[in-house]
Amino acid sequence: MSILRREFESLRQNGITKVGLPRIGDPSVIPLWFGEGDLPTPDFIRDAAKSALDDGLTFYNHPAGRPDLRAAIKDYLDRLYGIELDAGRVVVPGSTMLGISMAARMTLGSGDHGLIVSPNWPNIDRAFQMTGARFDFVRQRIEPQGWRLELDDLFAAVRPETKALFLNSPCNPTGWVMPGDEQRRLLDFCRGRGIVIIADEVYHRNVFDGDVAPSFLSIAEPDDPLIVVNGFSKAFAMTGWRLGWMVIPAGYGEQMTALSECSNTGAPPFIQMAGITALTQGESFVRELRERYRAGRGLVMQMLAPHPRIELSEPAGAFYAFPRVRGLRSSLDFVQSLLAEKNVGLAPGFTFGPGNEDHFRLCFAQSHERLETALSRIRDYLEDYDFG
Ligand SMILES: Cc1ncc(COP(=O)(O)O)c(C=O)c1O
Repeated sequence: MSILRREFESLRQNGITKVGLPRIGDPSVIPLWFGEGDLPTPDFIRDAAKSALDDGLTFYNHPAGRPDLRAAIKDYLDRLYGIELDAGRVVVPGSTMLGISMAARMTLGSGDHGLIVSPNWPNIDRAFQMTGARFDFVRQRIEPQGWRLELDDLFAAVRPETKALFLNSPCNPTGWVMPGDEQRRLLDFCRGRGIVIIADEVYHRNVFDGDVAPSFLSIAEPDDPLIVVNGFSKAFAMTGWRLGWMVIPAGYGEQMTALSECSNTGAPPFIQMAGITALTQGESFVRELRERYRAGRGLVMQMLAPHPRIELSEPAGAFYAFPRVRGLRSSLDFVQSLLAEKNVGLAPGFTFGPGNEDHFRLCFAQSHERLETALSRIRDYLEDYDFG
């Protein structure tokens, strides 16, 4: 007999780590599988963590986050969106991923129903699965101009017991960026029905048109059913630091602090100090990364998109290409054999929600040279691969 609850019994490793973990760190592989670039966190952020350690910041701190970091996040969001957020609504439990798990656990339980806008990063559906709620996927549509969510598809999927919906814009893996007017329409819909929007805005600075993606925070009232999760990993090249934040509706501070306390008891204090430095001194680095990613996107569009087997429109945000490969029957077989034969690491499409078996995901946040080599190997492989 299993020791596990039913929801955990069927929990499976996602397809990205299934392919990547056996060869993680192998220098012969060009790794385009995980959601990170090849630049380490810049010195000015690392130095802030080092000096916080030297100052003895090694103790427990407030489980909802250090007040100075929460104030810095508030200032940062106020500046980006032209709002006046109450810092009491900001919580720093640990990583962005932890924030997503907490948001799912806070809003969903057995007997409830949730919705996930897909294609989606696979850890999202696993976080939903662990709540015991039932959930459905609502798929974005591919159109000649790119991926788009048809809001009526989402509305049609809502049931009387729907309690929460998850969406990620800019989107991993599609690059879809939800326009502000659609955010407004969705928020109006959810307000009336008490459905909580869990908005994952972790790629908000990874946009190619403008400086920041439209945010639900720009349009929401403090008591709207909205939880925004965000973090430092993608904007500041801080994936290993495990630092993120949540913005919750007014009035839930006590429950959030209690949940944060029994999740990770907050993020480590010296890492939070590095977060303050990133937010207050990181703007030119954010812009530098954006130009690097823009060049990566350009290379993908130039080298991969014209291939006759590839269907790919230019992603508007995040740092992934999620092409459809015409005639592909197994995304796992394709990426595993590409890895074995050409030493290029991709993520298989099947793991990003239903309907993606003929896709793969490629992270283009890489140095130009390595990306160019990887793309030419993928192109060669498209010629060699037996599509059956
Ligand atoms: C859509 C999405 N949300 C959340 C996360 C988690 O971010 P973090 O590493 O900051 O926990 C990722 C990481 O890849 C992601 O792609």
